[in-house]
Amino acid sequence: MNRRLFVFLLLVTMVVGAAVAAQEQDSVCNGEQWLDDGGKHINAHGGGVLKYGDTYYWFGEHRTDHSFVTLVGVRCYASKDLINWRNCGVALSVVDEKGHDIERGCIIERPKVIYNKETGKFCMWFHLELKGRGYDAARYGVAVADRPEGPYEFLYSQRADAGKWPLEFGERELAVVDTLNEANYKKWWTPVWRKSVDEGLLVKRDFDSGQMSRDMTLFVDDDGKAYHIFSSEENLTLHIAELTDDYLHHTGRYTRVAPAGHNEAPALFKHNGTYWMITSGCTGWEPNEARLFSASSIWGPWTQHPNPCRGPLAEKTFGGQSTFILKLDDGRHIFMADIWHPRRLSDSRYIWLPISFEGSLPILQWRSTFQPLIDK
Ligand code: GAL
Repeated sequence: MNRRLFVFLLLVTMVVGAAVAAQEQDSVCNGEQWLDDGGKHINAHGGGVLKYGDTYYWFGEHRTDHSFVTLVGVRCYASKDLINWRNCGVALSVVDEKGHDIERGCIIERPKVIYNKETGKFCMWFHLELKGRGYDAARYGVAVADRPEGPYEFLYSQRADAGKWPLEFGERELAVVDTLNEANYKKWWTPVWRKSVDEGLLVKRDFDSGQMSRDMTLFVDDDGKAYHIFSSEENLTLHIAELTDDYLHHTGRYTRVAPAGHNEAPALFKHNGTYWMITSGCTGWEPNEARLFSASSIWGPWTQHPNPCRGPLAEKTFGGQSTFILKLDDGRHIFMADIWHPRRLSDSRYIWLPISFEGSLPILQWRSTFQPLIDK
């Protein structure tokens, strides 16, 4: 091929490529590839969305093709219509320093960002597993930035609420905890074992070193108080922990939800004064039936309701697993979930659905396409 023809063909390819990449989409297509402004499938799994000014920022796990560990970090995308997303790059980057908490090869999951009006800082919390230790570390990590898209500065990681009992543990509960001993329960899932977990067997085990902290979300209440909601106690019990006013630490006040209920992937919203939480069961990357809880105070008591999903594969959360619930300015809420593809995690897909109400209970009605700011 002569040189001129080659250059001409190259230019044509580039122009056509850019046109395809920049093509505007008019709806969210659930379960399909979701292309960013560069024409690449959005890589923001287990994520959450923050609105700042007139822009939505989507943060999530950057997943690679052939690995379960984190090789890049947390990605950020920006959008004004919740459909077309601009790739803002890596918001929090793993580091190459040996032994660092977020050393390349650690596992960073389910990052969420909230904005603190008092300090003007963007605060990112995530589930962190240390490099080479599988899922044993069970920590949360915190990072902070001056701009929504970052770069985020890593602050610290640790287990939760060391040396603190949950709020509901009074004298009577503590007297029971005092009698519990893990060595007495060789077998899990028996009724006596379940009862002892409910009574605080594992809270006691981890009292000094801190409570385990895995799948997580953040929730900011109307009064500006923020909470970290996470799977603790070997993923058996959810904890809701209050954050300090700067959103960078726990205050030490926390409550337990559904002890021994085996919940993961918590996502929270508030509607007409009621707190609602959607979770999954614990089956790894495999989908299972969503669970729904409600409470009139964030501190509980929390009540469980039937599966909120309606439509094909409703008994498997439509093939997905909850990650976040986004509140829109008009008070409506959007449920976000991940369809995990463990053979190639980077190709995991997304489900976004509006939350509607059936009587007094929220429901998720399946739809294959969705215009988040328009569809009711
Ligand atoms: C899921 C969890 C994900 C990830 C995965 C690893 O249950 O929700 O965030 O941790 O297990 O197997």
